[in-house]
Amino acid sequence: MRLATKVAIITGAASGMGAATAKLFAREGATVVIADVLEPEGREIAAEIGKAGGRASFKKLDVTDEAAWKAVVAAVVAEHGRLDILVNNAGLAGSTTRDYVDTDAWDALMAINAKGVFLGIKYAVPPMRAAGGGSIVNLSSLSGNVGQSYTHMGYNASKGAVRTLTKQAAVHYAKENIRVNSIHPGVMPPMRTAKLTADPVQRQRMIDRVPMGRAGRVEEVAYPILFLASDEASYITGAELWVDGGYLAA
Ligand SMILES: NC(=O)c1ccc[n+]([C@@H]2O[C@H](COP(=O)([O-])OP(=O)(O)OC[C@H]3O[C@@H](n4cnc5c(N)ncnc54)[C@H](O)[C@@H]3O)[C@@H](O)[C@H]2O)c1
Repeated sequence: MRLATKVAIITGAASGMGAATAKLFAREGATVVIADVLEPEGREIAAEIGKAGGRASFKKLDVTDEAAWKAVVAAVVAEHGRLDILVNNAGLAGSTTRDYVDTDAWDALMAINAKGVFLGIKYAVPPMRAAGGGSIVNLSSLSGNVGQSYTHMGYNASKGAVRTLTKQAAVHYAKENIRVNSIHPGVMPPMRTAKLTADPVQRQRMIDRVPMGRAGRVEEVAYPILFLASDEASYITGAELWVDGGYLAA
């Protein structure tokens, strides 16, 4: 098993790519903590993993809440004795409004998508340091690398922040054997909070720009996250991995 003995927190794991990653990590032997604002949905994913023979639990966490981060990480270390992996996956979509300069949307996008990742790193590093190392995988997006006409500018700015924050944290913690990498999914199943980008006509326009000619599947992102989280990626830090069917290569 690729994650035997590892303890992992995955934010936003009540849904989408986070849920797929939680299930895959558990199949690979990890003890998984699903951390999300969606409590019934998160508990359901944990129960599914348990029924399949894996180890998973749910912790309520709003990634913008510093006190909650502190409490969740402390509880995980108290319960499991360590923290090896953090996947900063929770996110807010960039198409909740068609007003691409709405200031409230900017604040929400930066709070969840960027500050949430910063807080995760801040509280995961001390127990990883104490254990002699760890792996942090941050969910950016192809939107962290390029501009798009159909998303709020705060989405691309927040995902760009995740991209650079990843490199900065990788440099800061390299000597402590804490690796930090970013994953950049392309066109995937719509986020729960997506509006315009969930519209079938808009989705087809986006898919038409993907060299592979289709959207990705959640498992196709979960496997690259697994690789970066695992010891197989022991000399990889500060890297960005595009999982986009060729979108950024075109
Ligand atoms: N779906 C896509 O097309 C796509 C493409 C590129 C990148 N991404 C990124 O991948 C990640 C996962 O996206 P997804 O498609 O699985 O989305 P999703 O909407 O299905 O899941 C996001 C999860 O994050 C949780 N969440 C939102 N705000 C939170 C908060 N404040 N605190 C804790 N949890 C919170 C939600 O409850 C949900 O469970 C996100 O960071 C997203 O920006 C998505």
